[in-house]
Amino acid sequence: MVQRIFSIEKINKSFDIKDGEDRLEVLRDISLEIQENEFLCIVGPSGCGKSTLLRIMSGLENATGGRILYREKALTEPTKDIGMVFQNYSLMPWLNVEDNIALGLKLKRLSKKKEKEIVDKYLDIIGLKDFRKSSPHELSGGMQQRVAIARSLANDPDVVLMDEPFGALDAYTRIQLQKELLRIWEKDKKTIVFVTHSVDEAIYLADRIILMSKNYGAIHKEIKVDIPRVRERSNPKYAELNQELLEEFEILNNMK
Ligand SMILES: Nc1ncnc2c1ncn2[C@@H]1O[C@H](COP(=O)(O)OP(=O)(O)OP(=O)(O)O)[C@@H](O)[C@H]1O
Ligand SMILES: [Mg+2]
Repeated sequence: MVQRIFSIEKINKSFDIKDGEDRLEVLRDISLEIQENEFLCIVGPSGCGKSTLLRIMSGLENATGGRILYREKALTEPTKDIGMVFQNYSLMPWLNVEDNIALGLKLKRLSKKKEKEIVDKYLDIIGLKDFRKSSPHELSGGMQQRVAIARSLANDPDVVLMDEPFGALDAYTRIQLQKELLRIWEKDKKTIVFVTHSVDEAIYLADRIILMSKNYGAIHKEIKVDIPRVRERSNPKYAELNQELLEEFEILNNMK
């Protein structure tokens, strides 16, 4: 039976604006359900509230109104079951690459051997074995982001919330990591919510794509991607959907 993992019920979010009495309303009455093991992509124009929604889903930030259920229980604070990869790399600058990846593992009190095994596995996946002793400031932006992805996956959370995780990567690495992420998602039965600006990336990855608009984060459209995996970009269905979504995206971008 398909299990519901998230139920977002009429979420509102507004922020105080500096030096003013007004508040900035970012999300208004947003509702969304996410099933266990689903790969959901969220696409939408800059500033429409994608990161805000993700932070609320991680428990790091509270909604101003409405409620959010995680496995049928109200979510009000972060839990180890929900991992997050932030839009900026957010590594610990004083820790080297391997210690950054192992950060969450320390809390699990694994044996040194087991911890090293996990760190090695993810260093291999992200292709940074030779940089294990490097500090974050010695890495490029794309390399730092790969470490942040590894850190999140190494904790083995049930849900991974990813905020434009591949935005800073070169095209080749991006495609490699898309494939790898799908492999991990299928093998480890995770639920992934993935924000991206790339329509192509969303079609490659998602079971379902949500198009969010600047109209207080309203869900403009929801698209099920029923192209069998591994998806070939040369598949005419792929190209057709790409074109359709690009047109929708242009409409959303031009909205006031
Ligand atoms: N902590 C905050 N305080 C005040 N305003 C905020 C805060 N966080 C976000 N905002 C505002 O909320 C709106 C939505 O921001 P958010 O970061 O969620 O957008 P986004 O869809 O992720 O954009 P992008 O694609 O550029 O990352 C923006 O107008 C932003 O200025
Ligand atoms: Mg964002």
